[in-house]
Amino acid sequence: MFAASELLDIVNTHLSKMDFDRSPRGLYEPIKYVLSIGGKRIRPVLMMMAYNLYKNNISEILSCAAGIEMYHNYTLLHDDLMDKADTRRGKKTVHKIWNDNVAILSGDAMLLLAYRHISDCPSEKQKEILDLFGFTALEICEGQQLDMEFELRDDVSEVEYLEMIRLKTAVLLAASLKIGALLGGASEKDADLLYDVGMNLGVAFQLKDDLLDIYGNPVIFGKKIGGDILCNKKTYILIKALKLANANQSFELMEWINAVSYDPEEKIANMTRIYTELGLKTICERKMEIYYQQASDSLARVQVAEDSKKMLMAMIDNLMFREM
Ligand code: IPE
Ligand code: IPE
Ligand code: MG
Ligand code: MG
Ligand code: MG
Repeated sequence: MFAASELLDIVNTHLSKMDFDRSPRGLYEPIKYVLSIGGKRIRPVLMMMAYNLYKNNISEILSCAAGIEMYHNYTLLHDDLMDKADTRRGKKTVHKIWNDNVAILSGDAMLLLAYRHISDCPSEKQKEILDLFGFTALEICEGQQLDMEFELRDDVSEVEYLEMIRLKTAVLLAASLKIGALLGGASEKDADLLYDVGMNLGVAFQLKDDLLDIYGNPVIFGKKIGGDILCNKKTYILIKALKLANANQSFELMEWINAVSYDPEEKIANMTRIYTELGLKTICERKMEIYYQQASDSLARVQVAEDSKKMLMAMIDNLMFREM
């Protein structure tokens, strides 16, 4: 079996060898750029780990794994435009270095390249994998649309939030694991269990992302702290804050949410102060733990030798304590 670090090296080497020396340069340079500035590569690594539960021939799945990472990076190009984010992975975002149109079009090209790489899998599995990928990509659009619509609402419920993050984030982790399982020749039951592992892990992952957006170290996290606050993103933390706040805190939160002209750093500082007063970091961490537990429960039910699950379990644990 391969260690996570070996899988990471394998996928990074494969990505770095991809040839983007086509014209127009303006279309391909941003793709090269975003793929070269790092990232955790958790989706391809999860895919290869799921495959590796059943098979060892990693080269068979490498193209698919690289394709999933490319797809993820495409979503980031468009997401950073939608979220007005200037920094990612500690570097300037594509729309900041180039412009909005470049982020849109290079993103589109990445999506199509991703599709091509994902299609590059054994023909007897191809239809099932492309169906799953296509449906997942559509769900991600649905999640991203809800995420934007929620910015304009103040009555988003916890249930609505959880469905939104299931769509925008969790389904891709779920599909990554399931595609790995399918290519490995897992039973349908195991493939579905691994999908469920990814779904629960993905919800926890997004809860942690929301938490790091407030309490993270910007140097390690690589994104601007408080970005969600400035967009009035209805994160778990904000939804809970609106629910738990006393009259004064409620008034203050609504003032910041509705403010038209304000000092961004002041808004971030004050909303963070209220979150801290309400103990929301711990509340969010508890919620995360429930999903991590469900992820590990599903993994426990996968019908492979207990020993071979250890690597995946360790990866899930690491993601829980991640700072980036
Ligand atoms: C960022 O994903 C988008 C979310 C779903 C929160 P990652 O946190 O996996 O970003 P990279 O690829 O490691 O930069
Ligand atoms: C990302 O959610 C979801 C997708 C990219 C599909 P976020 O907007 O929270 O991700 P970051 O924080 O910008 O990485
Ligand atoms: Mg977003
Ligand atoms: Mg974003
Ligand atoms: Mg985020």
